Parts: sequence; C-alpha cells; structure tokens
Amino acid sequence: MIPHSRPIFDDRFIHATTAVVRSSYTSEGEQSRELEQEVLKQCQQDDAVAVDSGTSALMLAIRALKTQQNIQKVGIPAYACASLWFAVRAAGCTPILMDCGEDLRLDVDYACKLAPTLDAVVLVHPFGMVDPLVAETWDCPVIEDIAQAAGATFQNKAVGSFGDVVIASFYATKPWGGAYGGMVLASTAMCDAVRRMSHPDDVNLALPYVGHHQLSNIHASLALMRLQCSAAEKKSRQQMMQWLDMNVPEPLQQSIHQRKQGNAFRYIVRIDGDVESCLQALHAQGLGAARPVQYPLHDAEKAVLHGAEKAWKDCISLPIFPNMTTDEYTLYAQGLSRCFP
Ligand SMILES: Cc1ncc(COP(=O)(O)O)c(C=O)c1O
Repeated sequence: MIPHSRPIFDDRFIHATTAVVRSSYTSEGEQSRELEQEVLKQCQQDDAVAVDSGTSALMLAIRALKTQQNIQKVGIPAYACASLWFAVRAAGCTPILMDCGEDLRLDVDYACKLAPTLDAVVLVHPFGMVDPLVAETWDCPVIEDIAQAAGATFQNKAVGSFGDVVIASFYATKPWGGAYGGMVLASTAMCDAVRRMSHPDDVNLALPYVGHHQLSNIHASLALMRLQCSAAEKKSRQQMMQWLDMNVPEPLQQSIHQRKQGNAFRYIVRIDGDVESCLQALHAQGLGAARPVQYPLHDAEKAVLHGAEKAWKDCISLPIFPNMTTDEYTLYAQGLSRCFP
C-alpha cells in the first residue's frame, strides 16, 4: 500500500534525537530555543515561542490576543481541520466558519461580508496553497496559520511574515513535520504572554489559563532536522506533482488550479462521483488516498456553506511524498488508470 503520507526519517534524524537523549536533557531547552531562532530566520516576526502542538499554538495565540483586546468571534475556514475549531473553543471563543471557493481557499466575497463581524480571523494556506487574503488589510487581528504551507513564499516573503500573529505546526506529516509540536510567532509582548501560559511551574495563580505547553528538545531536534531538509523535499514533491499531472486525466488535474502555487504539499482533485466509493476503489489498488479534511465542520454551522459542502462531496487527496520508489510509481500509475480510466 502506498500511504497517504510518509515522512522521511533518515540517519540524520536518528543522530539528532540520539544526541539529545545522550545529553540527558530531553525536556525543553537548547534545541527548542534553536528551533525558534531557525523559524524566525524565515518568517519576518519579532519573536517566537515553541509549544507542544499547532492546536496549542492557536489556542495560546488567541488567549494572548485576549490579554490585549476583547476577542469573542474568531473566523476560521469551514473546509479545514477540526483542530482549528477546538483551539478557538479552548480559548473561550466562538468559531465562525468562513466558506471556501472553488480552489479551496477562502471565498473572498464571503470573507469580506463576514469580516466586520469578527474579532479575529485565522487565515490558513490550505493544503500548501497560499491564501492571498493574508496580505490584505483586515480590521481585526489576523492569525496566519502556516501549518500546511511552511516554506512557501508569497510576494517575495516567506509565509508566516504576514499575520499579526503566526502559528506553525511540526506534526509528523506537515512540511516542517517532526513528531508533534507547534510555534507562535508575534511581537515580544504577545510571545511573553504565551510563555507565561506555557509554564505551570512558574506559578501565577492570577492568570486565567496556564498549561504544560513547552516543546521538548527531542521533538524540537526532529523539527530542526526537517527544516534542513524541507527545501529539497519541497522540490521532490513538486516533481511528483508534475508526474501526477501527466498521470491523472486532464479534468482532474485542472480541478484545483492553484495546486502548484505555494509549497506543493497535497495533490487534491475534485472528482465526478461519490468520494467514499472512489476512495475504496483507490485503496483496493493500493493507493492510500484520503479525504483532505477528516470532518465536515460545516455540519456544525446553521448557515449554508455551499463551497465547503461541495468540497466535502467532491475532493480527495492523492498521496504525494518525496521518496516514492520506482515500483511504487508503477503501482501508482496502474491504480490511477484503473480508477480514472
Ligand atoms: C491548518 C492547520 N492548522 C493547525 C493544525 C493543528 O496542528 P497540530 O496537529 O500540530 O495540532 C492543523 C492540523 O492538522 C492544520 O491542518
């Protein structure tokens, strides 16, 4: 079976984590700080705090914003991973779903209509594609979520340089994936607020929330190594996208126009037919295709979200990762030609 994702952990990763274990300093420390500095070299932000996950990063970022202003309604994309929904709720706020357009990025008209009603907005670069709305002026604070597009550039700047606050994820299958982990990048005042909420040992009972959110040196060393490999891996994924362009039928290839813009993280197609049956057929051929998101967030919303509903009905994500073997390419081509004759 060709899995949907397959992160590469070669000897460099083994040596990096072994060195941390040998140092006996496995909890947060040197590597966690180094990771913050490495990410800051790419994203134009003042300060950074490594935390235990992207979900925690978002929850803490919203809580840090709440120390400066009243934040209640937070806009999040409707066609996105459920962690966003839970992070907003865990920050004590209400998630407001924003519909997506045909290319899976935010529907601009929908976002513009909703914007005046929001206290903050989370802008995701979905499936590696940069959302240009991040460079627009918003009346509310923008949290730029680079979990799926880390390493991409827009207007000659790295993603993560646009938002008032930025969050990243180092979850295993992400472009900067290690095992688990996340980061908040923002002003020093905001980052200090996040630090205060991440260390329960620094007791401050007056704070409304504190949790154990530090990123361990072990997790940081994996993410640091991925950062070193990420440009080469991005290039390999781009080559694989080209191969897929030649091996999936043209209507599928054309179904998501902006797929190559950004960091080539997912190969998503819109199919004409039932997604579940199509996934079963692909699995039977040994292809670990998956839904691009695991849960239809739009079911939780009373408003009609045509774009997200359509994306849930139409979209599948085909495996794309850098280290595909020749045998796997043959299996892949066969599976595609049988499922999409
Ligand atoms: C866009 C986006 N943001 C944030 C997250 C949460 O990151 P983590 O899995 O590190 O908690 C995810 C997870 O899939 C995601 O896709």
